[in-house]
Amino acid sequence: MATCSGDHKTRLFIGEAGFRGVSALIDKHQVAHPNLGNSIIATELDTFGRTSDQCQRCNGIEREEMTLASQIANLFLSDGEEAEDYSADPLLHTSFCSDRCKRIRWLQNKGVTIILGFDGTKIHESNHPALTGRRLERIHWNCPHDKSNFRTQTLPPIIKSFFASCSAMQESGDRVHVTLAQPHGKADFYQGYVYNIRDASTPANYKLLAKRPFGPDRYPGYEHEMTGIAAPAAGAHQQREFVFVKKPFQWPAGRPKHKRYDDTFYSRPRKYYERDTDEESSVYSHSSGTSESESSGED
Ligand SMILES: C[S@@+](CC[C@H](N)C(=O)[O-])C[C@H]1O[C@@H](n2cnc3c(N)ncnc32)[C@H](O)[C@@H]1O
Ligand SMILES: [Zn+2]
Repeated sequence: MATCSGDHKTRLFIGEAGFRGVSALIDKHQVAHPNLGNSIIATELDTFGRTSDQCQRCNGIEREEMTLASQIANLFLSDGEEAEDYSADPLLHTSFCSDRCKRIRWLQNKGVTIILGFDGTKIHESNHPALTGRRLERIHWNCPHDKSNFRTQTLPPIIKSFFASCSAMQESGDRVHVTLAQPHGKADFYQGYVYNIRDASTPANYKLLAKRPFGPDRYPGYEHEMTGIAAPAAGAHQQREFVFVKKPFQWPAGRPKHKRYDDTFYSRPRKYYERDTDEESSVYSHSSGTSESESSGED
């Protein structure tokens, strides 16, 4: 196995809920890429307020806010307070109010930056120090949802604003990964009506490169969560990861292009993508095309 260079692409995760997706990713690549967490920023819109005095994460909220304040201060003061080091946390084995709190602390120990109260439609407006001046080569959102009934159609504009915000942050060739529910027989309806994914991605200058299987078979430990409820949604058991690339970029030689179809759902004309689910690998390091990509498999 090739040695990991440690020089990983920066990945921003949106709407992580219980942080199972990013935990499963790090777990899967623990041996091949032990420092992967350092290049990951994992976020969620919900702020998950302090729920228990006994919980080491909840109790640490004020401490973390102070750390953030001191990080911001460090931008202006050359000899400011050091950011908190979670690397050998003896409290990890003690009490947490929830698996989510425990996972957050575990991820911080792995070098992941956690940001709560983070809006994926306003990435470009964030002044969080972890994002300042940092190129976000990969932005992921697993199962975007706002808890709405699809008939209200409030989700498509959120996904559209998400892509526009990604585009403001990314350079050509950078990628957005969105995982969408694609239940058998309803994949076109979900793409076209529930998410309206093509009308979200195209105006922001993204093109679909790949579509892959996604779920616990690929990421052991991952379990989809509904918005605000720690349980999987019906229909989310068949997920696909859509990989979009910001244009312009060189389409890989010999790679078949996806086909686009039109349909009308509830009187609205929409488009959806049809292509064979492929197994294209991802590359973690900046030096793409090295043997690392071949040995690490897909991400
Ligand atoms: C269906 S859950 C998916 C959670 C997790 N990523 C998974 O795969 O199980 C959708 C998540 O998106 C979050 N969300 C909704 N609107 C958002 C926004 N504008 N910015 C960031 N996150 C948002 C919700 O709070 C929720 O955690
Ligand atoms: Zn807690």
